[in-house]
Amino acid sequence: MKTVETYVEQIRQTGEWLKARTQMRPEVAIVLGTGLGRLAEEIKVVDAFPYSEIPNFPVSTVEGHSGRLLFGYLGNTPVMAMEGRFHYYEGYSMKQVTFPQRVMHELGIKTFFVSNASGGMNPTFRIGDLMIITDHINLIPEHPLYGPNIPIGPRFPDMHEPYDKEYIAKAKKIAAEKNIRLVEGVYVATQGPTFETPAEYRMFYRLGGDAVGMSTVPEVIVARHQGMRVFGISVITDLGVEGKTCEVSHEEVQKAANEAQPLMAEIFREMIASV
Ligand code: HPA
Repeated sequence: MKTVETYVEQIRQTGEWLKARTQMRPEVAIVLGTGLGRLAEEIKVVDAFPYSEIPNFPVSTVEGHSGRLLFGYLGNTPVMAMEGRFHYYEGYSMKQVTFPQRVMHELGIKTFFVSNASGGMNPTFRIGDLMIITDHINLIPEHPLYGPNIPIGPRFPDMHEPYDKEYIAKAKKIAAEKNIRLVEGVYVATQGPTFETPAEYRMFYRLGGDAVGMSTVPEVIVARHQGMRVFGISVITDLGVEGKTCEVSHEEVQKAANEAQPLMAEIFREMIASV
């Protein structure tokens, strides 16, 4: 980033570009995480923009994984959805990783729904569980708000309730009505790209974490900086529980996340209908 002014100007430009190309003005944005892209099939897409065509959007390093920004309806609610996100471990700066959240605010979005895949450390968790993120611990070395303050929010943002309590209560009610098993917990964000050693999983659990992953927290911090209401679900795709740790692969993570999608979609759909 050259200057704050340039960054703010880029946010404005990208917002204008999108507003000129879609009639939709959603108030809710969703990030579809690893293995959760199929949730997009639940969305009646009106407009779709490959990230590579959106001015100022980070350029994808992985071929064929450029991702898309979707505008459409989930149920009857207009939404914007990110099919794929930018991770810090890919080499992006934190300002690039969280650029889409800045654009969301520019588009008038007030509510941010986020999904991801994570390794469960809480011994009561099972593979395939949906965990409501109730809080987080940020262990990624670069803070997304590092540097001059972006004048859209305060220099020292409050973080006493990063995840909206009302949404959490609503999600629990929906899950109970639909007989969907939901767990709750604290999400630990690490830089990655390595999964954890057994000692690391043990340490993160002792630090107060229930699940660990490589995303989401920078996005949530920026969303909160802008006063957006946040709700997040993590799919437990592997276990970092003492005595139960085993080899983890990206493929297994994707497979477990994929299998949990229908239930996650159900909760998101109901939640978004009531926003
Ligand atoms: N660790 C970090 N990130 C992850 C994991 C994990 O065990 N599973 C899915 N994403």
